[in-house]
Amino acid sequence: MDSKSIHGMWSSRLAFILAAAGSAVGLGNIWRFPYLASDNGGGAFVLVYLACIALVGLPIMLAEILIGRQGRMSPINTLLKLSREGGHSPAWSVIGWIGTISLVLILSFYSVVGGWTLYYAALYLMQLLGGDPITDPVATFTGLLASPGQLVIWHSVFMILTVGVVAMGVEKGLERMVRFMMPTLLVLLLVLAGYGISTGHFGDAVSFLFKPDFSKITGSTLLSALGQAFFSLSLGLTCIMAYGAYLPRDVSIPRVSVSVVFADTGVALLAGLAIFPIVIAFGLNPEGGGPGLIFTSLPNAFNAMSWGIPYGLAFFVLLAVAAWTSSISMLEPPTAMLVERSELKRRVAAPLIGVGVWVIGLVTVFSLNIWSSVRVAGRDLQGAIEYLASDIMLPVGGLLTAVFTGWFLSTRISREQMPDMPDWLFTLWLWALRVVAPILVLIVLGMKLSEA
Ligand code: PHE
Repeated sequence: MDSKSIHGMWSSRLAFILAAAGSAVGLGNIWRFPYLASDNGGGAFVLVYLACIALVGLPIMLAEILIGRQGRMSPINTLLKLSREGGHSPAWSVIGWIGTISLVLILSFYSVVGGWTLYYAALYLMQLLGGDPITDPVATFTGLLASPGQLVIWHSVFMILTVGVVAMGVEKGLERMVRFMMPTLLVLLLVLAGYGISTGHFGDAVSFLFKPDFSKITGSTLLSALGQAFFSLSLGLTCIMAYGAYLPRDVSIPRVSVSVVFADTGVALLAGLAIFPIVIAFGLNPEGGGPGLIFTSLPNAFNAMSWGIPYGLAFFVLLAVAAWTSSISMLEPPTAMLVERSELKRRVAAPLIGVGVWVIGLVTVFSLNIWSSVRVAGRDLQGAIEYLASDIMLPVGGLLTAVFTGWFLSTRISREQMPDMPDWLFTLWLWALRVVAPILVLIVLGMKLSEA
């Protein structure tokens, strides 16, 4: 018997893949991956990142989807239900709480960066209509960060867009959008990589990204790479679990997971291959680029390319859309939870949470300018929020998900959810969750803590 979620269902297998890939592919791939690679020495970081995707990310992706589909409710209630049914402590729902709280924190700064992409899209639109060109990309970017007014405006626009889709209901709002936008973004990245090749610095970029210098691997590198693997795949925060709840029973979980993981990793690597030749060609240092990396490097390329301005416009619009499809997936679990707990309508619940996230986002906005000297544990306020949510809570959420699925959820349930998986692969998956993922996460967290 196929049960249905009260929140709606995906219309097809493709709809789920697009939505999950829409969640996974976002600022994490095009903004965060290149700058983390830049800040962590390139190849060594990329290698550890890819290992984390294969050994930890993929197995947990399967786990989240299957838990979601088994429970068919918001992550917190799904975990409550499954732990009760299995005779385990309801305390396992803490995974849902960690996820929901860190989602709210991550969305708060994600929306501010999403706002940057909208601002750049607006700048390129104005250039197209005859406005001033961006002659000094670094000055343009630092000017934006120094202006709380601009940041608040674009953060607000981004939040309104996100709340709008979640309030309408995920399938209606989302499905139509991702179907068209995701493939177009891919084409634009390919063109940008083509431009990167034409600069003559493609080889340098390839060696920066793929030649590991093992002396650069520290606890911080490992933690950032692991955190980024979770962040980029939208794992550890119950987003994918929430989307799994709307997945029809006959869709193969291993297949959709592999598609999503390949799409996400492919886009991140492609973004790196598109961006670093440009960074190098324009004489910027590929190392230590920081969060401004794409905003300070790409405008140089758009100025130099033929058709660069309309191209820049298309690029930032699509980047904003990619960020949008991710932010929607972050708002979905808290909204579904509030709908279940309060019996409020989605139309009311999504804006309520949106306002809360918007207010927390102001901390990020002001930490970039008027509060920039405030330090928490050696970081600025935004850095502290990002560190707590992405580097600590996210891997811990993933670890608990792996342990719950591997050791506590009955293997009969997992087997029934994935009947198409060969026995040997199923056993491999189970042990990846039981042993490999927890040990890796614990080692990395332990190394980091002992460094601090
Ligand atoms: N995966 C998204 C990205 O790469 C971000 C995200 C993180 C989305 C966590 C949902 C949950 O941009």
